[in-house]
Amino acid sequence: MRPIPNPQQAAQGADAVKVIAVVSSKGGSGKSQIARSLSVAAVLDGHRAAIIDADQQGTCVAWGKRRTVPAPHVEALAGDIRAAIPRLQAKGAEIVILDSPPHSNTIINLIVAASDLCLIPVAPYPEDLESIGSTVRIVKALDKPGAIILNRCQPRTQATTHARNALLTFGLPIAPTALSQLVVHPYSCAEGMTAQEKEASGKGAAEIAALWDWVKTINTEQQQPRQKRAGG
Ligand SMILES: Nc1ncnc2c1ncn2[C@@H]1O[C@H](COP(=O)(O)OP(=O)(O)OP(=O)(O)O)[C@@H](O)[C@H]1O
Ligand SMILES: [Mg+2]
Repeated sequence: MRPIPNPQQAAQGADAVKVIAVVSSKGGSGKSQIARSLSVAAVLDGHRAAIIDADQQGTCVAWGKRRTVPAPHVEALAGDIRAAIPRLQAKGAEIVILDSPPHSNTIINLIVAASDLCLIPVAPYPEDLESIGSTVRIVKALDKPGAIILNRCQPRTQATTHARNALLTFGLPIAPTALSQLVVHPYSCAEGMTAQEKEASGKGAAEIAALWDWVKTINTEQQQPRQKRAGG
């Protein structure tokens, strides 16, 4: 496995994005995969990253236990998320990624409220696209910057293009990199890794690296027009 570099070295970008929530009420859309993958991408990019797993399924916690390297730090949410985040930041975490459960708009509300940026994964198929409406509404109601990530996309189909067009109605940015349906994601997870660690030169690794490069450039200030107006 490729060693994770000292995260104190060579950190670049991501200054404005410190707490990233991965949220969707739809089960199996790829929240935990994206939380894991982006946290490792952040570490490889030189950041001190941590995951707070707010899902009782404990998907990221279980993955963290399978890892043989300490970064990123992974912990289960215990208590109030508003206390957990500053505690990790006080210990040096620069990027905190929140993995969230499906089906609970109450918890999604708390996670979104605690974040600087919300990422909403969705598969490029009609039912999936429809299902993110409630999550988008929460993100907008709380005036949080949000972006949609297409995940589980099959190559050589028109589904991803159709999905991009359909998603425009939500009025949120859509990540230019759509994540393909690739076995490297579940297989690397089973070994406590991500695509970047298991197949560093593979397609999955390239997609995750490109996604992280895009996520860290999101200017969270510019995506909060209502808050900016309120502040004058
Ligand atoms: N792009 C992908 N290609 C192939 N498999 C994927 C991809 N993204 C996620 N998976 C796999 O699909 C399954 C569900 O993904 P994941 O656990 O990330 O979804 P989730 O949204 O966190 O689910 P839940 O709502 O239950 O928490 C996992 O086995 C994961 O490894
Ligand atoms: Mg999950």
